[in-house]
Amino acid sequence: MKLHMTPTSPFARKVRVQLRETGLEGDVTEVDHTAAKLSPTAPVAALNAENPLGKIPALEVRGLPALFDSRVIARYLDTRHQGARLQPPEGAERFRDDRLEALADGIVDAVVLCRYELVLRPESARWQPWLEAQLDKAKRGVAALAATPLGDEPTLGTIAAAAALGYLDFRWADHDLWRGAHPGLVGWFTRFAERASMVATKPPS
Ligand code: BEZ
Repeated sequence: MKLHMTPTSPFARKVRVQLRETGLEGDVTEVDHTAAKLSPTAPVAALNAENPLGKIPALEVRGLPALFDSRVIARYLDTRHQGARLQPPEGAERFRDDRLEALADGIVDAVVLCRYELVLRPESARWQPWLEAQLDKAKRGVAALAATPLGDEPTLGTIAAAAALGYLDFRWADHDLWRGAHPGLVGWFTRFAERASMVATKPPS
């Protein structure tokens, strides 16, 4: 399998953590698009050929078209290892975990849009109310995350939550979108971030 990624992408990090938690890491070659400066305004042809949406992560697998997005990849990979499934069994627990994953991904969606606004859009064309609305969305999402019981075991939901908080630390530390307001979440993240899978995939500083 081949994983299109960058080491700074929080969505790719979800998959990279999952690969390490499930022992599948050795089955996947990572294709790092950092050098190509991949962004929505700088597409990479080799990635577009696999994912017409031009986004990472995308996973090339034998016998299937390349898989995207991170949630689809996560569910596929969870069928490919011998250990206990990271997704809870069908039923209420699975929906809670799916919701957690969607919440975490939604937080990241909001702040990634903000980053594009700040990094890619010319300053003269910036739309401040829109930026603030996205940051508010991220803060509401974090508050909901703090109100959600989070186990210490890796599931698709807890991995997504950890990737989201790690990304807020990585790109948004100066905005304090979560640490100041949610000490309980800090405690949870501190424990989760000690996992070898998280240490190995920490974004480069
Ligand atoms: C980032 O470097 O911030 C980033 C990279 C890929 C997707 C989203 C964010």
